[in-house]
Amino acid sequence: MILVTGGTGLVGAHLLLHLVENEDSVRAIYRNRSGIEKTKSLFQLYQKEALFSKIEWIQADIIDVPSLEIAFQNITYVYHCAGFISFDPNDENAIRKVNIEGTANIVNFCIDYNIKKLCHVSSIAALGSRLATENDTASGKSTTEITEECEWNPEIAHSDYAISKYGAEMEIWRGQQEGLHVVIVNPGVIFGTGFWNQGSTTFFSAIKKGFPFYTNGSTAYVGVADVVKIMIQLMKSKIVGERFIVIAENCSFKDIIFQIAEKLQVKKPKIEAQPWLLNLGWRLDWLISLLFRTKRKLSKYSALSLTSSEYISNEKIKNALNFEFQSIDKVIQEVTDLHR
Ligand SMILES: NC(=O)c1ccc[n+]([C@@H]2O[C@H](COP(=O)([O-])OP(=O)(O)OC[C@H]3O[C@@H](n4cnc5c(N)ncnc54)[C@H](OP(=O)(O)O)[C@@H]3O)[C@@H](O)[C@H]2O)c1
Repeated sequence: MILVTGGTGLVGAHLLLHLVENEDSVRAIYRNRSGIEKTKSLFQLYQKEALFSKIEWIQADIIDVPSLEIAFQNITYVYHCAGFISFDPNDENAIRKVNIEGTANIVNFCIDYNIKKLCHVSSIAALGSRLATENDTASGKSTTEITEECEWNPEIAHSDYAISKYGAEMEIWRGQQEGLHVVIVNPGVIFGTGFWNQGSTTFFSAIKKGFPFYTNGSTAYVGVADVVKIMIQLMKSKIVGERFIVIAENCSFKDIIFQIAEKLQVKKPKIEAQPWLLNLGWRLDWLISLLFRTKRKLSKYSALSLTSSEYISNEKIKNALNFEFQSIDKVIQEVTDLHR
């Protein structure tokens, strides 16, 4: 039997949809009943309600060891999709606890229960960076290419989220050293249907409400269907002890925001948020959160990443699985068609 953590989130719910479609016997953990309803809505969106009843739900929290004991009974394969995504510095302790300690718990249970293989969902945030080479400079490249081989540089400033995802990967590699078969995926920003008001899908709801800013920084994107297809293929393959960047395209925030606005048939943002404006923005946001105890919306690191450009390579996974990614244009079309 397969165990899925994070089945009430974007990645885990889409993974469940694919797994049960293929007749796999699946157990998923949940924390609150309301989470299960979100996953059920996704199945309804695809008219797959009948398949939803095939999932065995067990209440468990990845930072609550006794609750995981029951979840791991009779399990052979584990997909670890649970995680806490937040760029609010006030969430630092919770982010580290869920992403690092929670992953350590999953690894320990996988070892204790002789799990055949564990697939862990990391992030491009956990990748290292690369300094520009002479070749880059000579070819006029303004950005450097990031691959799975790039080493984490602790001297560069990272968000708490990035540190926690890197820490989680360290727990996975520790599991491997203790004999566990592991594979890691490092997705870029994931777009997908369902979960309209949470995580990466808030891009769509914010733009629909008339978000006024865009920036010229860039990052990498991928559709959720491709992420889960790759996870399943990796799990069924003989590949172990490796990590794979899972991204379809590198795009500027401006292109992505304009494409979404166009497809949602709403006004495109008009104001380019220059670095000085973002610098002012995160400081103001910090002050407001301090005075009114509100949730931070823009941190120093988010402001930095909105204007920085990185080029991330997907060659390794394309070659390993002979995989062809759905274009981001098509992914955005699918999401907006279902949410317009
Ligand atoms: N979305 C992206 O753009 C993106 C990009 C790269 C990597 N990732 C990684 O992909 C994974 C899944 O992301 P997502 O987009 O699916 O996130 P999401 O929609 O926010 O879902 C997070 C999932 O984790 C569960 N979870 C959180 N804390 C938990 C805990 N203590 N115990 C058990 N379950 C817990 C949540 O359960 P509740 O419903 O109970 O809260 C939910 O099912 C994460 O590890 C994230 O870091 C995401």
